[in-house]
Amino acid sequence: MTGKLPFEALSVETLATRLGANEALCSHIGRDTTRWKVREVGDGNLNLVFIVEGAQGAAVVKQALPYVRLVGDSWPLPLKRSFFEYHALTRQEARAPGSVPAIYHFDEGQALIIMEYLSPHIILRRALIEGRQLPNIARDIGLFMARTLFRGSDLHMATRDRKADLALFADNVELCDITENLVFSDPYFDAKMNRHTSPQLDGIVAELRGDRDLKVEAQRLKHIFAANAETLLHGDLHSGSIMITDSETRMIDPEFAFYGPIAFDVGMLLANFWMAFFSQRGHEQNGKRDAMRAYLLDVTVETWSVFRTEFSHLWRTERTGMLYQKSLFEDQGDRLGAEQALDHMLHKVWTDMLGFAGVEVHRRILGLAHNADFETIADADLRATCEAKALKFGRHIAVNRRQIHSIDEVNTLAALLEGENRI
Ligand SMILES: Nc1ncnc2c1ncn2[C@@H]1O[C@H](COP(=O)(O)OP(=O)(O)OP(=O)(O)O)[C@@H](O)[C@H]1O
Ligand SMILES: [Mg+2]
Repeated sequence: MTGKLPFEALSVETLATRLGANEALCSHIGRDTTRWKVREVGDGNLNLVFIVEGAQGAAVVKQALPYVRLVGDSWPLPLKRSFFEYHALTRQEARAPGSVPAIYHFDEGQALIIMEYLSPHIILRRALIEGRQLPNIARDIGLFMARTLFRGSDLHMATRDRKADLALFADNVELCDITENLVFSDPYFDAKMNRHTSPQLDGIVAELRGDRDLKVEAQRLKHIFAANAETLLHGDLHSGSIMITDSETRMIDPEFAFYGPIAFDVGMLLANFWMAFFSQRGHEQNGKRDAMRAYLLDVTVETWSVFRTEFSHLWRTERTGMLYQKSLFEDQGDRLGAEQALDHMLHKVWTDMLGFAGVEVHRRILGLAHNADFETIADADLRATCEAKALKFGRHIAVNRRQIHSIDEVNTLAALLEGENRI
């Protein structure tokens, strides 16, 4: 298959014929297509994902469609998201080696990526819902964020390369538009595709939509997101975009990649840990989740600490870009100057991160794209109780983000809200 053929969606039936001569795929899984077994994974919302098993191995084939898979042609979405996903994956691999699936092949015209089949990995969100405590996620994700976010910025890259990448990813307009609307605006008015657990949450939803301070803050955050092209973001770094085993952690699905503020990925990721925390109450049928709750709060502490430590390390050792040049500081014997600038930067990441985390919690409960942590709680009253606590938490950290000093303070608030049983 060449990129010159018109786009055509693959199917379980056609995949072996269409990709039977693809050298990259054949060399990884075996050439005898009669022995290929193809199945569609089908738990994504946007794209087609197939697992192809051959005599010698397996691979994943991910193909974009000209629309949102879950919704159909009524919601068109450009094929080029696959191009951005591919280019983001190659950069993430270079900046944080071993953190993403290996890429075997990319076909721009067919909007498809052939990549390593991660097995026996499962989606992190599923593991957290099951109550599994993974020992390495905080370290692995903290390192991934620090390395990709630092090394994709003007702190590290040659300015010519960064500007070229900025231009390249600037064209990912449609997916960026989804983030801008779904995360920062839709939860705070009666947007068409919104939904929430009703009627249980109707009262608190009305309260949040009438909350002037919150709405102003959400728009300030949207402005920060839109106007601060600091680094190449993953753009959709939640627990559903991470695959794990007990010892391995891999990030997948960076199709929302875009130049934006460092704090965005960090805030979105931590919000998903806090949501996992608030959802545990809904998953206690087979036993208490006290230890799991404590584990999740520890994970937020460690993730943030690993991120800070690694970011600081890279600041001291790899600050080769045009910002805060060593010629202004270390080369003049002024190490303290460099540390002062680092403190300023990390402080800004901290306060913005809390804001992004707060709105991420809101949009997962009030917007279009809910998460399984809450959705799999069948009892609507119980689900609403968990969601209401998370909504209050999100509001508090978004609005008070400049007055909160430590992750322990945030976790004390989470524990306090969790102990409250009334909505
Ligand atoms: N490299 C891989 N190895 C194993 N499984 C994978 C791999 N990539 C994706 N999957 C599986 O396919 C599912 C969908 O993948 P992915 O999230 O990339 O698709 P998507 O359509 O972009 O989904 P989303 O709605 O989250 O945007 C994942 O949840 C995971 O179960
Ligand atoms: Mg996706």
